[in-house]
Amino acid sequence: MISHSHRMDFDPLSLFTPIVREIPTESPSNTFISKDSVEEQVVEVFEDEDHLTPLHILDFPLLQLKPPFEVLLVLLRLISLNEVWNFQQDEEDREDPLVVFQDKKIPLEIVYISIEWFKVYCTRLDSVIKLSCVPKLAFALKKTNDYNDYLTRIISSDLGWLNDEQIAIIHKETSLRISENCGRTAQPELIRKIKLHNMEKLGKEYIKLKEPALTSDNLGLKTWGSSLILSQRLINDHELKEPILELGSGTGLIGIILSCLKFEVYLTDLPDIVPNLKENMIINDCSGIIDELDWKNCEPFLKKYPVDFNTIILSDPIYSPDHPQLIYEVLNRLCKPTTEILIQIPLRRNYEDIRSKLWDLLNKKYREVYSDIERGSDEFGDTTYCFKKFVPL
Ligand SMILES: C[S@@+](CC[C@H](N)C(=O)[O-])C[C@H]1O[C@@H](n2cnc3c(N)ncnc32)[C@H](O)[C@@H]1O
Repeated sequence: MISHSHRMDFDPLSLFTPIVREIPTESPSNTFISKDSVEEQVVEVFEDEDHLTPLHILDFPLLQLKPPFEVLLVLLRLISLNEVWNFQQDEEDREDPLVVFQDKKIPLEIVYISIEWFKVYCTRLDSVIKLSCVPKLAFALKKTNDYNDYLTRIISSDLGWLNDEQIAIIHKETSLRISENCGRTAQPELIRKIKLHNMEKLGKEYIKLKEPALTSDNLGLKTWGSSLILSQRLINDHELKEPILELGSGTGLIGIILSCLKFEVYLTDLPDIVPNLKENMIINDCSGIIDELDWKNCEPFLKKYPVDFNTIILSDPIYSPDHPQLIYEVLNRLCKPTTEILIQIPLRRNYEDIRSKLWDLLNKKYREVYSDIERGSDEFGDTTYCFKKFVPL
């Protein structure tokens, strides 16, 4: 549980965390179906433009027809969240249908069993190839009420034609699909893939960031647009003085970039955020010190790491009226005469006052040596970001 002292003074986020039960990945049937038999179907020739036309809700299996377990499972997994690249769901075509089923964790045996039903009762999805187009063709449909109504009808149905284990699986998959469609704050855990320009400087094709389901007001479990923009800036121009300390690292994108650029980094955040931050450094094969540092009291951190930090980085750190003062005080405690402060703040309309308060405070003890404005976006829309560099007066 997060303590009340860390609560934000802004609109609470709507949160919904679905119940997660184990799903068997094996086919429920004992029928042996060879991979070849499915591959043969993949060679089917398109006779129409079904693979190009967006899906309508009437193209989905009708519940009145009591679709078998395999049919519902295939459909529900096909409409699961597509991979997230930066802040967008992937809408790219997958050339190989087998890759689609693999990505969506659908055993081929289940595809093969279900296709017989689709052929008879759901002609829009009557082939393996057409099924493999569902992730791409359902994209617009997911934004409609019809889609949510369809999922709600599954949840509220007793699915009396299935057995208890199958009902539990279908209801669980359906509730995941509903929560995935409710916006980032209600979505279950996701792995976000980040691709920036000049990634070759990092020796990586992309960065993976694990973002658990958002619980309470732990905004550090989500990656913010600010860290993407600032990371690109650091990749483009990384003349930084080590060691580098980041305050409020969140999911760790900036730290991961700095570690890939071979800087000595210390990444810090609140206790609830640090375990996921550590995990993200590990899954990207990065090294650095990752530990708790609460802006309200940095003494325990300084006691553990009596280090002279030459750079302190902050990305999107103020979203509560007490943050400017806290940040000013923690910087005063951590800065040495040689320390450079890099700070990036989104210019959110409702936060003008607390931004001005931060700049006023910083100007008392620090000199602004650089300032720039950049456009960017995340799931919450387009934003302008202000980047500034300060040095002690
Ligand atoms: C809006 S998020 C930005 C996260 C990350 N820097 C990014 O740009 O993606 C703000 C971060 O500040 C952290 N934070 C808020 N209050 C804090 C405090 N008192 N001490 C340390 N970190 C804090 C949050 O946990 C969160 O990770």
